[in-house]
Amino acid sequence: MLNKMAVCKVVLLAAVIAFAFTASAFAQDATYVGNSQCKICHNKKEEGEQWTKWKAEAHAKAFEKLSTPEAQAVATKAGVTKPPAEAPECLKCHATAADEATGKCPEKIKPEDGVQCESCHGPASAHTAAAKKFKSGDKTAEPAKSIKKGDAETCKKCHNEKNPTAKPGEVFDFDKQYAKINHSNPAKAAK
Ligand code: HEC
Ligand code: HEC
Ligand code: HEC
Ligand code: HEC
Repeated sequence: MLNKMAVCKVVLLAAVIAFAFTASAFAQDATYVGNSQCKICHNKKEEGEQWTKWKAEAHAKAFEKLSTPEAQAVATKAGVTKPPAEAPECLKCHATAADEATGKCPEKIKPEDGVQCESCHGPASAHTAAAKKFKSGDKTAEPAKSIKKGDAETCKKCHNEKNPTAKPGEVFDFDKQYAKINHSNPAKAAK
């Protein structure tokens, strides 16, 4: 009897592990599509005007920032020899999904667009595909399930002590910082 229970547990555990692997493989299969895609569906004023708000805030200008004299000074101090706008050491936080070794961004991502939607929400090809299905009448497609909402951990990928301009001992306060770039849907917040 005991043995049978143990076997059952092992089988169950194996199933759980197999599912977890499938789920993570699905997320990894998604590729980057670029912010012009998001703009098509996420720029209605009454739903929070996400694209227009993002375009006006600091993240959209994070790459531009790398061509300033101020950035050159930061790079020199950090011992970075390449111009900052070409240096993987800077691009990893000032562009979207830049390769840590080469600084190259994925095909649909322009470095000039700085820190864009998918830096925080993750690669979104699966989401845009589901959203298109949903819009064309397939109510079984659940677009919200294939995209990350973003939280404090998302921000700390870049807002951390490896940022060469961080003030020593600075602690990232999510609520305070998100308030500065808030693009939540007011219709949902009211509920
Ligand atoms: C074809 C239309 C369409 C496109 C393109 C699209 N979305 Fe969406 N998105 C939706 C719909 C529909 C929902 C679900 C309804 C809602 O929550 O507002 C959604 C929900 C979301 C949510 C909220 C998820 C949640 O948990 O509430 C985020 C974040 C999001 N999309 C980000 C993006 C980003 C980033 C892009 C571009 C890479 C993008 N979307 C492209 C239609 C789209
Ligand atoms: C670990 C992530 C990270 C890396 C790596 C990084 N930065 Fe930044 N950088 C940030 C963040 C986050 C900010 C915004 C800080 C804030 O205002 O709170 C920033 C801001 C800046 C600013 C503006 C500072 C200001 O006070 O307005 C400059 C200039 C800059 N970075 C240059 C560089 C250069 C040059 C490199 C490469 C040598 C680099 N950064 C590498 C994350 C990073
Ligand atoms: C710096 C990170 C960051 C960037 C860049 C960013 N977002 Fe977000 N976004 C967030 C966070 C965090 C939230 C969720 C906040 C919360 O908990 O309500 C959010 C919420 C959303 C929501 C859900 C709104 C709701 O209330 O249902 C949508 C849709 C969305 N973002 C779309 C976009 C699009 C489109 C872009 C680019 C044009 C973009 N975001 C850029 C971090 C980001
Ligand atoms: C991919 C890296 C990256 C991620 C992820 C990221 N940021 Fe940033 N953030 C930056 C960089 C780089 C800057 C500086 C841009 C500039 O000064 O041009 C910045 C600037 C900002 C600023 C403007 C600072 C100021 O005082 O003007 C705010 C606010 C901010 N980030 C909030 C957030 C929040 C909230 C999140 C998470 C939801 C987040 N960031 C995620 C890289 C990132």
